[in-house]
Amino acid sequence: MRLKRSSLIVAICLVIWGTLTYYALIRRLEEPSAVLELEIGRLEAGINEQMAQNKEMIGKVQGILSRKKIGESERQNSLKNVVIPVLVFACNRVSVSRCLDKLIQYRPNPDQFPIIVSQDCNHAPTSDIIESYGSQVTLIKQPDQSEIPVKPAEKKFKGYFKIARHYGWALNQTFFNFNFDVAIIVEDDLEVSPDFFEYFMATYPLLLQDDSLWCISAWNDNGKDGLVNSGQPELLYRTDFFPGLGWMLTKSVWMELSTKWPKAYWDDWIRQPIQRKDRACIRPEISRTKTFGKIGVSNGMYFDKHLKFIKLNDKFVPFTKMDLSYLLKETYDKDFLRTVNQSPVETFENLKLGDIDRDGPVRIVYHTKDGFKSNAKGMGLMDDFRAGVPRMAYRGVVTFYYKKRTVFLAPGWNWKGYDLSWT
Ligand code: UD1
Ligand code: MN
Repeated sequence: MRLKRSSLIVAICLVIWGTLTYYALIRRLEEPSAVLELEIGRLEAGINEQMAQNKEMIGKVQGILSRKKIGESERQNSLKNVVIPVLVFACNRVSVSRCLDKLIQYRPNPDQFPIIVSQDCNHAPTSDIIESYGSQVTLIKQPDQSEIPVKPAEKKFKGYFKIARHYGWALNQTFFNFNFDVAIIVEDDLEVSPDFFEYFMATYPLLLQDDSLWCISAWNDNGKDGLVNSGQPELLYRTDFFPGLGWMLTKSVWMELSTKWPKAYWDDWIRQPIQRKDRACIRPEISRTKTFGKIGVSNGMYFDKHLKFIKLNDKFVPFTKMDLSYLLKETYDKDFLRTVNQSPVETFENLKLGDIDRDGPVRIVYHTKDGFKSNAKGMGLMDDFRAGVPRMAYRGVVTFYYKKRTVFLAPGWNWKGYDLSWT
């Protein structure tokens, strides 16, 4: 009996101890498991987010791939449905006819490429010439011919104020009144190449697709005869420099710029970092426009020294039948920087003397502003900067053709971006 009782007590004690230990254990297990669960939850969310990002990326890549895969005829057809107006700026030069004649001669389809001529200056002989084209072009006239008050020191630059006012008005008309989504801008002293329209039609999808692009330009500032590869008129590049002189922009870029459009010097204004926001333009190896405007607002300053030497492309390149996806930022940057960095470094003197006993591109390195300028001048390139950017530079590198080879005038490895003090 005594044994029975004590074993009962022991049993009860054991049960109590067991129960207590069990709950204590459970609690100990439960507490970290709550933390663990939270951790697992976070991890899961992270994985999901990553998965979503991957999915999005795959979608993008597939989109690009399928764009490549869609039939050639389909691609051509979708391009043919885009309407891209050409906006021609005119003032008081009757030679606008040279510009219009070539545009009309080369445009493949008047419905796809309507020509709007916007005239400033109220110059009657110029209006007459434009009107003589009848329904081939649409003439609009900038109504505000009031005097623009300028400081005495800026009197001689008054023309730049008038040009900026005209640009602001005509671009507003094109995008907000005519309601086009995109436009090509041409000035009355530009002659276009046979494949001018082909070039813009083919590069239009890049402008839409790639947010790091904000313009397509027909112009190469360094496009003189001896500095371009005449055998490769199909070559195109990205540039951080805004070349203008026959260029395409979208309505969305205009919506951004129009709100703060400047009173003068619009082209240098557009090149400032706050406007450019690190965006690039596409430019050709060989220009698709040529300027014949010796007499104009800047009074032939650059014309005799430089502009008149720029070569106009004369071979038709079927750009719309070519794959231009190499110009999209991701692909281009990787390939471009690799090519530049893999090119052997040469001295300016050897290059100049033609004293290099191997083929292929070479690199000339500059480290200072004056170093850049003396190299550029020595090779016949434009040696000036706008907002710190040398003409036609991409990531500091100016690409050109010299004595039958591609040359990269490139900054040193520790380049940190354009220097605004380089003027
Ligand atoms: C230079 C640029 C030009 C830019 C201009 C503005 C070159 C080769 N040219 O003009 O691209 O737009 O600076 O900074 O780099 N015009 C008017 N109203 C006027 C005077 C001119 O609308 O009162 C028009 C002209 O018809 C022409 C354009 O503005 O279409 C440029 O005028 P131009 O005389 O050719 O000046 P550039 O010195 O070439
Ligand atoms: Mn001009």
